[in-house]
Amino acid sequence: MDKEEDPRNGVGNGTTTKKPRLSGFITDSEVQSEFSHHEAGVARINNGSFGCCPGSVLAAQRSWQLCFLQQPDHFYFSVLRPNLLRSRALVQTLINADHIDEVSLVDNATTAAAIVLQQIGRRFSHHQNDAVVMFSCAFPAVKKSIQAYVTHAGGSVIEVDLPFPVKSNTEVITEFRKGLSKAKSGGRKVRLAIIDHITSMPSVLIPVRELVKICREEGVDQVFVDAAHAIGSVPVDVQQIGADFYVSNLYKWFFAPPSVAFLYCRRSNASSSEIHHPVVSHEYGNGLPIESSWIGTRDYTPQLVVPAITDFVNRFEGGSEGIMRRNHVQVLKMGKMLAEAWGTSLGSPPEMCASMVMVGLPSKLCISSDDDAMRLRSHLREKYGVEVPIYYRAPKNGEGECEPKDKDGLITGYARISHQVYNRIDDYFKFRDAINRIVLEEDLY
Ligand SMILES: Cc1ncc(COP(=O)(O)O)c(C=O)c1O
Repeated sequence: MDKEEDPRNGVGNGTTTKKPRLSGFITDSEVQSEFSHHEAGVARINNGSFGCCPGSVLAAQRSWQLCFLQQPDHFYFSVLRPNLLRSRALVQTLINADHIDEVSLVDNATTAAAIVLQQIGRRFSHHQNDAVVMFSCAFPAVKKSIQAYVTHAGGSVIEVDLPFPVKSNTEVITEFRKGLSKAKSGGRKVRLAIIDHITSMPSVLIPVRELVKICREEGVDQVFVDAAHAIGSVPVDVQQIGADFYVSNLYKWFFAPPSVAFLYCRRSNASSSEIHHPVVSHEYGNGLPIESSWIGTRDYTPQLVVPAITDFVNRFEGGSEGIMRRNHVQVLKMGKMLAEAWGTSLGSPPEMCASMVMVGLPSKLCISSDDDAMRLRSHLREKYGVEVPIYYRAPKNGEGECEPKDKDGLITGYARISHQVYNRIDDYFKFRDAINRIVLEEDLY
């Protein structure tokens, strides 16, 4: 497929230290053994929340931890810095960043959001009539950062509703345009747009490149892409995407231990000298990548295992790209199987999902609040050994015929299923059967 045509945004770009092996790929039993620390008997179809880390990467992390404990001063003065650089260089190649100084390693997407919003928050203290635009389903922790850094500084926040169930990218683009013009009304300046690459709940793959382009055309000051779920689940090319900031967790879909993320800050960013890690330490003022490399004494080993992760993914046919492709195909197949079994439908078309899919739940479950959704999730974990997030979608007033329905009524609940290399078909059958039993036996949750 041509670079420009890839609907999942970007292409692979020689992300690895070694070429994938031509033969002798990892076997099924080796995969199971890499994840043998997962609790037996749990259908874990929620990779999206906390990711997973294979045994070989955990072993590499343990070696780094011992290296620190054996001779901490040697580790601090001679080992840490060059090996952080090595991880950053691998990430730079993986995401096609122009320069290594554009790549910082931080703990997680929440930290990255604090870095970006703290910087923008300072501007609001001088320009209180300005606005931030984001999706209403932006991650709740990120919304709290906006409250802390933007709302408190007097800025306005305009939320764009994500159409869901969604039928096409065009629907998302239309809503986003409406949100931008609302934000600009009355002569307001849009200081920042926050765009999810893959929204968390409901989960939808967003046409991020198109939205960034619209922001540029509309004179938005800065664009921050919250791509917490992206790396390892969709190809990422930060130059093609063109945002000022782009964060992705490495622990979700890229097999890192908890917790590490990269934050890309475009070098041409006029405000780069104003961007700081929220935890101030010895390296303050030396640029974000160096500030982030020492924020006090702590465990830095999750940041050092990127080469071990690269070795792990190269054991699979097609390396990281092969894993993404197969996860996408499998999660869709499992989503369709479940929707067919329950007589429901998927929340988005295939091209608007990566390794997670929203599947409509039978209306007979009568999910009518966020609390109901959480109760069903706990019930599935405690009684049926199934781990899967549940989403409550309130019926929209006046939508009538457009409301998603099954034969018994309105579909108000969706499950977000994930597929990662350790998943087996039986995990999804277990989920299917659990829901069928709850419906049939009226097993109250
Ligand atoms: C879209 C999105 N943004 C941010 C986060 C926060 O990630 P973290 O808990 O690693 O900071 C998440 C977590 O799932 C997410 O889904």
